[in-house]
Amino acid sequence: MSRRSPASGHRPEDGSQDSRLATRDAAAKPPYHMPFDEFRRHGHEVVDWVADYLESVGDRPITPDVKPGDIRALLPESAPERPEPFEDVMRDLDEIIMPGITHWQSPGWFGFFPANSSPPSILGELVSAGLSTQGMMWSTSPAATELESVVADWLVDLLGLPETWKTTGPGGGVIQMSASDSTHLAFVIAREQVEGPAESKVLYASNQSHSSIEKGAKIAGFKQVRLIGIDDEYALDADELRRTIVDDLAAGLKPTTVVSNIGTTGTTAVDPVRSIGEIAREYGLWHHVDAAYAGTAMICEEFRHHQDGLELADSYTFNPHKWMFTNFDCNLFYVADRKPLIDTMSILPPYLRDEASESGQVINYRDWHIPLGRRFRALKLWFVIRSYGAEGIRYHVREHHRLATDLAARVERHSSLELIAPTPFGLVSFRHVDGDEATNALAAAINESGWAHVSPSTIEDRRFVRVSIGQTYTTAEHVDRLWDLIAAHA
Ligand SMILES: Cc1ncc(COP(=O)(O)O)c(C=O)c1O
Repeated sequence: MSRRSPASGHRPEDGSQDSRLATRDAAAKPPYHMPFDEFRRHGHEVVDWVADYLESVGDRPITPDVKPGDIRALLPESAPERPEPFEDVMRDLDEIIMPGITHWQSPGWFGFFPANSSPPSILGELVSAGLSTQGMMWSTSPAATELESVVADWLVDLLGLPETWKTTGPGGGVIQMSASDSTHLAFVIAREQVEGPAESKVLYASNQSHSSIEKGAKIAGFKQVRLIGIDDEYALDADELRRTIVDDLAAGLKPTTVVSNIGTTGTTAVDPVRSIGEIAREYGLWHHVDAAYAGTAMICEEFRHHQDGLELADSYTFNPHKWMFTNFDCNLFYVADRKPLIDTMSILPPYLRDEASESGQVINYRDWHIPLGRRFRALKLWFVIRSYGAEGIRYHVREHHRLATDLAARVERHSSLELIAPTPFGLVSFRHVDGDEATNALAAAINESGWAHVSPSTIEDRRFVRVSIGQTYTTAEHVDRLWDLIAAHA
């Protein structure tokens, strides 16, 4: 029994009751498919809808004014038995769903990290859905695999990653859903490289690592996770790492894997990748690098000193779905040597054997991650990279970084505010000198403005405001307006 009748009293926007009824008639009987002429018409309408949305998203309050359960209460309890006209679905999208949306694509989005999209990415996603191909093996859609390898290899050059990580060399890249999946997978591979009971294997990461590190460790079966201390800039203390590994060895444990962060979630701190890599080599640990957010910045050479020592990493992950204008989900995972990855992940039932695989000439990405089925994520990234060109992406990264350093300088000059961390990329981290309460009040005032949104956080028991500058459409004008808001409430 539905709580509402979605179709009641509805008139389509073009006023054409006839066309609406025609739609309903066509789809409301076997075989129930939307006719292609209708699909074409609605498709154009939906693209217009998305373009209108993106053009005007900055005028909407970023966070919705809803309480838990408000949206659910407006939705029917049961699925429709009878087909409904597409116009009714779009009407409910506007009337029920949109009031409950948080607008991450607003240029006033300074929260968490960006989760950007862009028109080429959206169109790539649309084509990917249109093809709905499965790229689990080369033979199940050769172009899906080969494009993914090419895009992953392009990114090796674009980001200045080690040449050996290309699929044409011993390593290779694969597109997965998220940094969390990739990190989990890296830990499973690492675990397989060391003999002995799970209880003896130890994983190391800075105490500023993202929660996906502890979660991945848990899923991969690590019972021992050491969260290593940090220096003044919140980067891992390599001396403490070494001491901890030595102590664990003395206690009969098996140091197995260590993580370097390039851009922590809290303050975008950068761990000493080279020192960590050298320690990992010395003691035989798998070295995984999490550059989920900051990886995109490496498209500009001036940021690459932050990834010095990457040739000492065994695996690496970064998210085009944060700062590279490619909508969620799209995450790159690279390994320096693909053999341990494939040895760990490959299970070959008879129904997945084929001639191409036996030839040894193709990549079967099903062996490069956890799921078997895989969607064509490379397409939207390819659309983005070709549409912006490397220079277009560089332009925006540099501009976001310029706006962030400019905001940091204004914070530094303000007598009531203090920076708590450097701004190596696009994040400005600061607090009110009067303490936690004043800092929370400042963040609340920004968010209450409706048009700007920040995510406050806590580090070493003190509250701070994170302003993450990197949304696709954020410009100097938005940052100036944000600064006026900050200054008015500081
Ligand atoms: C440093 C870092 N690692 C990992 C993640 C998790 O990313 P994902 O959502 O792709 O799993 C994040 C998310 O913000 C992050 O900042």
